[in-house]
Amino acid sequence: ATSLATLGAAKGIRFGSTVGKDNFADPGYRALNAAQCALVVPENEMKWSITRPDAQHFDFRAADRIVEWAGANGLGVRGHTLLWHSERWMPQWVAEHDYGPNPRAEAERLLTDHVATVAGRYADRIDSFDVVNEAIDSETGALRDTALSRHIGAFETIDIAFRTARAAAPKAQLVYNDYMGWRADEGLHRDAVLRLLEQMRKRGTPVDALGIQSHLGSKFSDTPTGLGSLDEPAFRRFLDQVTGMGLDLLVTEMDVHDNPLPGAIGPRDAQVAAHAKAYLDLMLSYPQTKTVMCWGLSDRYSWLSGMRLRPDGMAKRPCPFDADFRPKPFRDAIAAAF
Ligand code: XIL
Repeated sequence: ATSLATLGAAKGIRFGSTVGKDNFADPGYRALNAAQCALVVPENEMKWSITRPDAQHFDFRAADRIVEWAGANGLGVRGHTLLWHSERWMPQWVAEHDYGPNPRAEAERLLTDHVATVAGRYADRIDSFDVVNEAIDSETGALRDTALSRHIGAFETIDIAFRTARAAAPKAQLVYNDYMGWRADEGLHRDAVLRLLEQMRKRGTPVDALGIQSHLGSKFSDTPTGLGSLDEPAFRRFLDQVTGMGLDLLVTEMDVHDNPLPGAIGPRDAQVAAHAKAYLDLMLSYPQTKTVMCWGLSDRYSWLSGMRLRPDGMAKRPCPFDADFRPKPFRDAIAAAF
C-alpha cells in the first residue's frame, strides 16, 4: 500500500510519528517509521529530563542518534519540547537550584541558555519546534507555575522562551502545544489557550502555530464513535479564532485511547478508526492544518499501554499499526482522511 507520507504529501500534508525511548532500539519499528513517515519527533529525548542532567551540562546523545537516523533516512524532524510546564517531567534540580541573590536573572539565564542551546544545535535540521508545552492548568485556566516562572513571571517565561527560540532558529516554525479538549465541558481550557495566544499576539511574541495534541478518547467519558463527545460547533469556533489570529494548526500527538471501548477487537478497531476519521476530517477542513503526527505508530510501544489499564486486561490498540506492525483500520482512516 502507498505510505501515509506519500498520501499526505499529495495533499500538502506532512505525516509523522514519534520515535524514542525503547522503541528506537527496535529495527522493525524504525523501519516502519521510515517507510510511513515524512518526519519524526523524539518522544522524550529533547525534553529537559534527558538533555539536562544538571545546570552545567547538556546531554544530546539520545537526541542526536534520532536526528542522525532521520537524516540518513530522508526524514524531517520536529523538536519537542523546549519547555514543559509539567513539574513532573522537569528534572528535580531545576526546583532545587540555588537561584542566588538575583533569582529572576538566574532563572532567565537558565531558560535562555537552555532554549538557545537546544534550538541552536538543531536549527539546520529541525524546521518546527514545540517551544512551550501544556502551560495552562486545565482545572483553573490559569498559567501553570513552574520552578522557573516563579522567579520570572508566568507569561514572561513563555514570551522569553519563544523570543530565544526565534533568535536561535530563525527559520523554524514556533509552536505552542497543548492538549485542550473538544468537549462542551472543556471550554475553560480552550478559552485559556485563546487568551494566551491573544496575549502573545499583542506582545509580539513570535508564535507561528498552535499544536493540538489530539489524544482522542483519552478520558473515560469519551465515546469514540464518529465525533463522539466532541462538541463540533464549540471546537470549530475555537479553531476559527485561532486561525483568525493568523496562526497555523498542527495535529501533534494523535492516538485514540480505546480503554472505554468494549473488548472485541474488530468492533473496537472500527470505532477507533471512525473516531480518527471524523476528527481528521474536521481538522483537515482547515487548510492551516499541514502537519499530522501520531504519538507512536504501533500498539507495541504506545505510551498509553501502561496507563489506566483496561478492566478486561486486554492489550490496548490506540495506534494505526498493531503490535506486529500490521496496518489497522485506523491506518486506513488516516489514508482516507488525506
Ligand atoms: C510522554 C511520553 O510518551 C512518555 O514516554 C513519557 O513518560 C511522558 O511523556 N503530552 C506530551 C508528550 O506533550 O510529551 C507526552 O509524552 C504525552 C502527552
